[in-house]
Amino acid sequence: MTDAAKSLLVIAPEPRVSEAIAASFAGDAGIRVDRRTATLAGLNGHAVEAMATYDVILFQTDPNDEADLAAVRDLVAHRRGQTKLVALADGAISLAQARALTDAGVDEVLPLPTDGRTAGKGRAHAGAPGRAGRIIAVAQARGGIGSTTVAVNLADQLATGAGLKRSDPRPKVALVDLDLQFGTVGSFLDLAEQDTLLKLAMDGTIPDATFLDQSMASLPNGLAVLAAPARFAPLDALRPEQVAAMLDCLRQSCDFVVVDLPRALVGWIEPVIERADEMLIVTDISVPSIRHCRRLIDFLTQDNPALPVEIVVNHQRKPLFRSKLQREAAKALDRRLDHWLPHDPRAASVAADRGQPLSQSAPRSALGKAMRALARATRATLPAAAQKYAK
Ligand SMILES: Nc1ncnc2c1ncn2[C@@H]1O[C@H](COP(=O)(O)OP(=O)(O)O)[C@@H](O)[C@H]1O
Ligand SMILES: [Mg+2]
Repeated sequence: MTDAAKSLLVIAPEPRVSEAIAASFAGDAGIRVDRRTATLAGLNGHAVEAMATYDVILFQTDPNDEADLAAVRDLVAHRRGQTKLVALADGAISLAQARALTDAGVDEVLPLPTDGRTAGKGRAHAGAPGRAGRIIAVAQARGGIGSTTVAVNLADQLATGAGLKRSDPRPKVALVDLDLQFGTVGSFLDLAEQDTLLKLAMDGTIPDATFLDQSMASLPNGLAVLAAPARFAPLDALRPEQVAAMLDCLRQSCDFVVVDLPRALVGWIEPVIERADEMLIVTDISVPSIRHCRRLIDFLTQDNPALPVEIVVNHQRKPLFRSKLQREAAKALDRRLDHWLPHDPRAASVAADRGQPLSQSAPRSALGKAMRALARATRATLPAAAQKYAK
C-alpha cells in the first residue's frame, strides 16, 4: 500500500476475509474501506465500474476458478487511471498460478489473511495487507555446526535473487541475529558494530518500523541486517513482545525475514517459533547431534505442531545413495534429510577472512553453489512470498 491509497474496495466471498482487512485499516482515518461479499465473477461487471472509483481493489480469488480468472482479465482490460489491483489468494497457491494472475495484469498477489494459523507450508498471516513476508528461523543441533553460515548465506542468496531471472525484481530480505550473546552475523558480513538489540534490551521499548529502518545496516544487494550487540547483554533482557513486534514489522516490509536463533531456549524465542513459516535445523549426522536435533524438534513442535521443520545436514555432500547411518538419522528425526551442504573449509575461510557472503567471496565453490540451491529450494517451499518483489 502506498501513502496515496485513500479508498479501498475489498471483494471477497468470505466475510471474515474482508473483515480482517477492514479491521487492519480501522485506525487509519485517511483510508476508506468498502466491502462487497461476492466473488469477482459474481459481481457481473460491477467491478469494472469500481475501477473508476477506488484507488485500490483487493479481491479474494481462487486461482483454479476459470470464471474468476476471466473476470480478472475483463477488469484489467477496462483499467483506467491508477487503480491498483491486488489479488488475495490462498497461501498454498502455486508459483504458476500466481504468475497467471500477474500475467493477467494483477499488480500484486498476497496470501489471504487468516484468523488462525494455517497448517503446513505457506501459512498465511492475519493483519494488514503489506508484503506478508515469510519468516525463516535457523537453529542449530550443536554449537559451531554452521547455523550462522546458513542464515547469512541463505538471506544473501534470497536477496541476490538466486534462481530468479535477471529481469525479475529482487525480493526484499531482512536478516536478524537473535543470538544475543554470541551472535556473529555482524562479523560474517564485516559490519560496523550495532547496539540496537542491546538498546532495546536495556530500555525495553517496543520497536516500530521507523526504528528498525534507522537501525538496520543495508548491504549493496539490499539485504537489511540487524546484528547482535557487540557488548554483552543479559540473555533474559529481551521481552517476547519486543521480538514479536520486530518480526511483525519486518514481515510487513520484507518478502523474507531470516532469523539466526540463539542456542539457549529462552522465552523470547517463542514469538519466533509461533511466526516461523519454516524452521531450518542445521546438524550433522553424528549420534549426539541427531539426538539433540530430535529433542529440539520435540521442543519446538510441542506447542506448534504445524511448524514446518526442515533439516540441513552440514559438512556433508548430498549422497547419491543413502548410507545406513543416514537412513537411521532420517528415521530418528522422522524427517527427510532434504538439504546437504558440503564440507568446504577453503570457501568458508575465504568468506570469513573477507567478511563477505559466499556469493561474493567464493561463488563457484561447492559450498557457494549449495547455498544457492538451498535458497532456490526455500523459495520453492515458500511460494506465497515469491509473487511480486520490490518495485
Ligand atoms: N560446510 C562447511 N564447511 C567448512 N566450514 C564450515 C562449513 N559451515 C560452516 N563452517 C565454518 O564453521 C565455523 C562455525 O560456523 P558457524 O556458522 O559460526 O556455526 P554456528 O552458528 O552454528 O555456531 C565457521 O568458521 C564457519 O566458517
Ligand atoms: Mg552462530
